[in-house]
Amino acid sequence: MAIGRIGVVGCGLMGSGIAQVSAQAGFPTVVREVSPNALEKGLATIRRFLEGGVEKGKLTRTEVEKTLGNLRGTVELRDLSDCDLVIEAAPENLAVKREILVALDGICGPTAIFATNTSSLSVTEMSTFVKRPSKVIGLHFFNPVPLMKLVEVVHTVRTDPQTIEQAIGWCVGVGKTPVRCGDSTGFVVNRLLVPYLLDAIRVFEQGLASRDDIDAAMKLGCGYPMGPLLLSDYVGLDTTYAISEIMFDEFKEPRFASPTLLRRMVTAGLLGRKSGRGFYDWSTNPPS
Ligand code: 3HC
Repeated sequence: MAIGRIGVVGCGLMGSGIAQVSAQAGFPTVVREVSPNALEKGLATIRRFLEGGVEKGKLTRTEVEKTLGNLRGTVELRDLSDCDLVIEAAPENLAVKREILVALDGICGPTAIFATNTSSLSVTEMSTFVKRPSKVIGLHFFNPVPLMKLVEVVHTVRTDPQTIEQAIGWCVGVGKTPVRCGDSTGFVVNRLLVPYLLDAIRVFEQGLASRDDIDAAMKLGCGYPMGPLLLSDYVGLDTTYAISEIMFDEFKEPRFASPTLLRRMVTAGLLGRKSGRGFYDWSTNPPS
């Protein structure tokens, strides 16, 4: 079965990017949010990015129109009923994801593939929520989705090899480079990236160096595109915190434990880019 129609559940930071790259690659894509307001916010993000592409000379006006023509927003899960591949990009909360997957299992046809963009929850556990575990897979995208080339394609012990190949084919079709990996918390990238981000916060918390010097050190010393504190803000401090909790719970290793400062910042609503303030002030461009 060729993958034709795509459904995306969630139009936040990741879902909007996934829906965009799918529509941009020519796939009829329907993206669902929980409320008209949240949906409009997500679609506005997509329009803004596409407009930015035109301003930078990366996209033509016709390409933008075509992309938007392939994209439909909805607040109804049942509008995803005829999708061949549904990618769930809801918040990192297993109960929320369970509710979505159970509902989709009753709505979508038996051959539809269910993918999750989870960054740290168990794809295997999610596959137990539905009657089609062989058609459940992880497709982990990176932020900002339209610019980052990688997708981690995560198989469980029950994922059908054909499901893996179909998902890989779709990733390549939307211009991404897939890497295959098994279902272990954090997969490859977050297993390596998250302890690094948490250590950078600890270095800052301990007063070893200033925010700007930590970020400059890793940018200029290692050639990373962003320093770790800026990147933590960019990913979202709440997301970084949530992933660290899940990873600590899984591995019980101190390197995955959330630093006190991170917990305090999240409690105080300093979530980074999404809330306007984290380690940086995001009301200025560039963040200061
Ligand atoms: N449309 C089309 N192209 C665009 C665009 C747009 N709206 N906006 C930017 N671009 C293009 C630019 O033209 C440029 O292309 P070029 O390389 O051909 O010149 C390229 O994208 C980079 O754009 P900018 O020059 O404006 O921006 P930067 O060079 O500052 O790069 C960045 C921005 C790509 C975000 C870079 O800083 C980066 O790679 N940061 C690290 C991001 C990262 O590590 N992400 C992973 C986070 S972890 C994660 O997501 C996992 C989760 O589970 C936590």
